Amino acid sequence: MTEFPKKTLRIGLIGSGFIAEFHLRSMIGVRNVEVTGVYSRNAENRQRICTLVTQLELGDCTSYGSLSEMLQSDDIDAVWLLSPNHTRLDTMRTIHEEVTAGRSKIFAVACEKPLGRTVSEAREMLRLVEDAKLNHGYLENQVFSTAVLRGKEIIWRRAASTTGRPYLARAAEEHSGPHAAWFWQGDKQGGGVLNDMMCHSVEVSRHLLTEPGKPRNSLKVKSVNGTVATLKWNRPRYADELKARYGAEVDYRNRPSEDFARGTVVLEDETGQELIIEATTSWAYVGAGLRIQLELLGPEYAMEFNTLGTGLKIFMSREVQGSEGEDLVEKQNAEQGQMPVLEDEAGVYGYTDENRHMVECFRKGETPLETFHDGLAVVEILIGLYKSAETGQTVHFPAPDLEDYVPLVARPA
Ligand SMILES: NC(=O)c1ccc[n+]([C@@H]2O[C@H](COP(=O)([O-])OP(=O)(O)OC[C@H]3O[C@@H](n4cnc5c(N)ncnc54)[C@H](OP(=O)(O)O)[C@@H]3O)[C@@H](O)[C@H]2O)c1
Repeated sequence: MTEFPKKTLRIGLIGSGFIAEFHLRSMIGVRNVEVTGVYSRNAENRQRICTLVTQLELGDCTSYGSLSEMLQSDDIDAVWLLSPNHTRLDTMRTIHEEVTAGRSKIFAVACEKPLGRTVSEAREMLRLVEDAKLNHGYLENQVFSTAVLRGKEIIWRRAASTTGRPYLARAAEEHSGPHAAWFWQGDKQGGGVLNDMMCHSVEVSRHLLTEPGKPRNSLKVKSVNGTVATLKWNRPRYADELKARYGAEVDYRNRPSEDFARGTVVLEDETGQELIIEATTSWAYVGAGLRIQLELLGPEYAMEFNTLGTGLKIFMSREVQGSEGEDLVEKQNAEQGQMPVLEDEAGVYGYTDENRHMVECFRKGETPLETFHDGLAVVEILIGLYKSAETGQTVHFPAPDLEDYVPLVARPA
């Protein structure tokens, strides 16, 4: 039996790519944690992570070429599931098998978005984690963005308490396209930008609209209406650019996923008050870099936040020459001119407070603010939006026929 609280949570990473590095960089702002292992298929990738763990003084990290071996190790308490979407369920099955057979002593799993590519996948993730009696957290970083933490607290304490609850949340996340081939492949990723990024917009909006202290299911989804389109990346020049970058498997002349999505989600609170989420996401936004825009509106107040409206800006003239990078903001598109800089991306995007929260909950044996239940609820909304976009109809909830629905771009050719 694990005794709580544990003094230190020792975590193993599953995956060694972009998001694994982001999580590591944020961990220097988290107490009571050590990173003691990493598993992915390629030894060089794992070594890169181990070296970073050493540089950041986050612990002694062992590189594992087998997931089971890492799960069976005596110095792993919890795993962060950070591998691509199409590996999610198999990974969770291995975790379930090792724990239920008594070979692994891990007691918690934190999983990146999305929880599954379909409702049935996400529901199976939840079933497996609960059947193995593991504590679970759904990693939705925007809920823990420093601006969201501060903004939500002020709005609800000062304005909603005296003039009434907020009724409209608007959320947008846009950039110029993801960084690895599998994101662009509908079957592997589960869809296009709607699946990849609207998961953030939907969940941060649900969070902002939820009264502090109330469970997320105090809001009920009534209906969803979505639109998807491919605006940029199916144009011949850009389709060819993708093929040159990622190989023939990313074929946007013939098999494009959507690079634009819009969704309206109608909800109801416990008193029957109607609430709305308006979300828009795109991989076709060429601005300074990743742009997250959030608004929360109520009867006598408004909150707004834009990650590119930074206090810090840097100007570099055309005489400044240098290599391309993402050292100013994520998905940066230029190295010259007037440019916004995020001094603390891990904090502003929410990774630091997210990991602090998950580590503290797991260490103490408490239920996190975001669990696999929330991951499943998000997938239900996204899949409803895909179905609405395909049929041209609003989807009314509850919608049991969404269970095995696969978005058009994710179906086999
Ligand atoms: N919260 C956010 O804003 C955010 C941002 C980006 C990504 N994500 C999510 O994080 C996850 C990973 O995305 P990423 O951007 O890190 O992708 P990525 O850069 O392509 O990295 C994927 C990593 O997974 C490893 N991998 C591949 N197959 C694996 C398997 N079967 N088992 C274990 N590891 C495997 C790869 O290493 P090997 O080749 O060595 O196996 C690679 O290190 C995705 O689910 C994505 O949706 C979230």
